[in-house]
Amino acid sequence: MRRGLFVTFEGSEGCGKSTQIRSLVAWLESRGLPPVTTREPGGTPAGDQIRHLLQHAPQGHGLHPEAELLLFAASRAQLVREIIRPALEDGRVVISDRFLDSTAVYQGVARRLEPDRVEMINGFAVGGTLPDITFLLDMDAREAFDRLQKRDRPADRMESEPLAFYEAVRQGYLQAAAGAPERFVVLDATLSEQELTGSICKILLERFHGFLSR
Ligand SMILES: Nc1ncnc2c1ncn2[C@@H]1O[C@H](COP(=O)(O)OP(=O)(O)O)[C@@H](O)[C@H]1O
Ligand SMILES: [Mg+2]
Repeated sequence: MRRGLFVTFEGSEGCGKSTQIRSLVAWLESRGLPPVTTREPGGTPAGDQIRHLLQHAPQGHGLHPEAELLLFAASRAQLVREIIRPALEDGRVVISDRFLDSTAVYQGVARRLEPDRVEMINGFAVGGTLPDITFLLDMDAREAFDRLQKRDRPADRMESEPLAFYEAVRQGYLQAAAGAPERFVVLDATLSEQELTGSICKILLERFHGFLSR
């Protein structure tokens, strides 16, 4: 039985997901609810191998979009069953840095795979384990791109895409949010870190007051 709370963060690289997750973890810890955090692709030993193949390994160059989609789905299927479901059944808060919406957007919109098929494969991978709430950190593609240039680590394959790709990703995310308004919260990612954290905590308290105030 699922008793926990499943929170996901989505948005283009550089929009501030990792930053907000760090703050949310601290806030939850201060309330006596240390969360389980995870990331996609990866989050399990097998998933981390898939992550390496997708993002860095030379063998991953030239992967076809269909193969890429199935590798993301394989990583997610393992993550759901090995980490996310057990934690939710245990009553924990689970925070994932990206989840199934990332595939819907990156593989469906930006790589132009058929959205219906991507949705079907996503559904098969997660088997009904959907987020209770998804924060979309939305910002202009150009601005996110500039933020990434300032970051002091090398770009992975996805991050090396041209600006038009990031624009398609942004639009894809906004479309996904419009399609599931009960689950998505769209936030302006250009607000300050503190303002964003304040909004996220306030929204969580409003929606899940009973759970968070135990
Ligand atoms: N609200 C914000 N305003 C300005 N810069 C930010 C904000 N949030 C994060 N950053 C900076 O933007 C960069 C990307 O943030 P990060 O959290 O790593 O994004 P993501 O995990 O989505 O790729 C980092 O250098 C971070 O310090
Ligand atoms: Mg990050």
